[in-house]
Amino acid sequence: MAKQKPIKRIGILTGGGDCPGLNAVIRAVTLPAVTKSDVSPHALEVYGFIDSYAGLVYGRFLKLDRDNTEDILTQGGTILHASNKDNPFAMMLGSKANNQIRDLSNSAIETYQQLDLDALVVIGGDGTMAIAHRFAERGMNIVGVPKTIDNDLSSTDVTFGFDTAVNTATEAIDKIQTTAFSHHRIMVVEIMGRYAGWLTLHAGMAGGADVILLPEFPFSIDKICETIIARRQRGRCYSIIAVGEGAKPKGGKMVVAKTVKGSHDPIRLGGIGKFLSDQIEERVEGVESRVTVLGHVQRGGSPTPHDRNLSTLFGVAAIDFVMKRKFGGMVCMKNGQVSSVPLEQVTSELKLVKEDDPMVKAAISLGISFGI
Ligand code: F6P
Repeated sequence: MAKQKPIKRIGILTGGGDCPGLNAVIRAVTLPAVTKSDVSPHALEVYGFIDSYAGLVYGRFLKLDRDNTEDILTQGGTILHASNKDNPFAMMLGSKANNQIRDLSNSAIETYQQLDLDALVVIGGDGTMAIAHRFAERGMNIVGVPKTIDNDLSSTDVTFGFDTAVNTATEAIDKIQTTAFSHHRIMVVEIMGRYAGWLTLHAGMAGGADVILLPEFPFSIDKICETIIARRQRGRCYSIIAVGEGAKPKGGKMVVAKTVKGSHDPIRLGGIGKFLSDQIEERVEGVESRVTVLGHVQRGGSPTPHDRNLSTLFGVAAIDFVMKRKFGGMVCMKNGQVSSVPLEQVTSELKLVKEDDPMVKAAISLGISFGI
């Protein structure tokens, strides 16, 4: 049998929206790779591509080493920058007015070949993994690492970034609660999550919200108003409503803040909180309501200890899979074990909140309303 070429050079990129824990993964891939050890008998060269797949297409990279990765464990965002704009198979070129879409996947493959890479570690969500899968089919040795604050990838029980975002959103609700109480107000808190309501559910529960509205369960405004009125009758003249940005009324549509023409990700959600707040003020006599949109605050800041450690476990698993030549898969957590799932399985369906979820059932037992 022909002897396999030793693994000497790898690439790494961060795709999609940023997320706390990305730098911790970059560190956990790089440090074992550049250090001669049982994991890597030869010290490897690590190329970090700048701006996600655009860096691979245009050959823009940063050599990663101990010096530039050792201290990034606690740093939010990504030192490699992230992008959810660039898909090498359909790159947007030209101006806004004169948008041209080109397949530049061959340029990405050329960069991979010219740098003589033996593998590429791709950190991202479902969109990033779908692109990675296409490159794997074209011969690149890929290892994926899942990330998203939305926690909506069905092939892994958990993603890093989620715990940090839950903490951030919960802290915000805690602070909003004191104003709600002091002013006898309805406070609507709009939380990220386009299709999946995990973040809204977990932060809403931890923050003691009275109403939790998720993209998965279309709501009735009448039911929400009933909860507010019932609370007032019990002397609770304030209520907290946690609403996922993708939530919609029964028979209605998601509230879109902006549609960006010619973008791979054209729909920018936003506005469901204001819509609800206006409806409540209109329908419930004598209440005042305010909205807080948590927005990108939820994706920012230093990862929690849980996310630092999960990112580290995922990063170390990724370099381990590279060294064992276990390519074409994404690192995942299943039943408390770090393992790998084939890339083609990753993007098939999102993990959504179901009515029989233990947290949903617990909420219902406590009398928390889902507006249904
Ligand atoms: O990372 C996923 C997500 O946080 C969604 O919940 C949200 O709709 C989206 O990112 C916003 O992304 P952008 O940075 O493009 O505004």
